Amino acid sequence: MNFKGRDFLRILDFSEEELRFMLDAAKRFKEMKHAGENHKYFPGKNIAVLFEKTSTRTRCAFEVAGYDLGMNVTYLDPTGSQMGHKESVADTARVLARFYDGIEFRGFKQETVDDLAKYADVPVWNGLTDYCHPTQALADFMTIEEKLGGFSGKTLAFVGDTRNNVANSLMAMAAKMGMNFIACGPNELHPSEDIVNACRPIAEKNGATITITDDINALNDTADAIYTDIWLSMGEDKEKWGERIDQLQSYRVTMEMINKAKPGCIFLHCLPSFHDLNTSVARDVHEKFGVEEMEVTNEVFESEHSVVFDEAENRLHTIKAVMYLTLTDEYNQ
Ligand code: CP
Ligand code: NVA
Repeated sequence: MNFKGRDFLRILDFSEEELRFMLDAAKRFKEMKHAGENHKYFPGKNIAVLFEKTSTRTRCAFEVAGYDLGMNVTYLDPTGSQMGHKESVADTARVLARFYDGIEFRGFKQETVDDLAKYADVPVWNGLTDYCHPTQALADFMTIEEKLGGFSGKTLAFVGDTRNNVANSLMAMAAKMGMNFIACGPNELHPSEDIVNACRPIAEKNGATITITDDINALNDTADAIYTDIWLSMGEDKEKWGERIDQLQSYRVTMEMINKAKPGCIFLHCLPSFHDLNTSVARDVHEKFGVEEMEVTNEVFESEHSVVFDEAENRLHTIKAVMYLTLTDEYNQ
């Protein structure tokens, strides 16, 4: 295992063993956190967390993980630096690498985080791009393992906008962990061939399958875990809400869908979620299109099947594991 100095840009950059090791490290960090054990391993280190898009979980998880590890954290919001408008990503990366021991970046384009990583000679951690959301997938698989006891022979179904960033990382993680994966949504929102072609041989090698379908009945008696995400991601044109609702309405996660899946089926969502009218976006959409619940019903979201807040907590432990492993000398052999 050699993690030191490595970037965390996408799931497929890491081997099965390395991802397994990260999940195990996250488990240990969770135990330490719950036991109140000090784990300030990096006093004096500094990290920067850069956000071109808004965030609650990812920002707070990186900040708290940084503090828990004894580090100092600088947060730069979408308008808080020169990057992109007055200074290139390449120049920004080379400057920040002189100040910081690691850099988190959330942005619009995967190329930006790739560029940042290319020019910064410290670890760069991807906190979400248009293409993927790798730290999310780590937390999701930690949660699945906690709730289902393992991955082999089990099936994760992602329902809805199956070509989005979260779905891409989940497919990659399922392939690596040997868990069957179903992407279930309308044909025009199916994952790109590139990502399916990259993941399928890995899944096969690990004894798992990848199914791409527009038929929600594919989940019946099959899905051990059902996952969905919002129908319009950050950075997409807001004018598309109407079209997306038409495309995805029949893919809403309902109690009927959960009841037809495997007994004990769990429900996952990266959050934030539009499961009620308690947000301004949901109220706007409701006013324009008359939809009260979007990707998941409130009944499912609030049910005993739902593990969404465990999943949110696990963002902290998994992000801490990624930062720890890429900064420590301990596994640098
Ligand atoms: N799931 C997730 O990434 O949430 P935030 O957008 O709040 O960071
Ligand atoms: N697909 C969503 C995920 C948010 C965590 C988005 O990109 O907005």
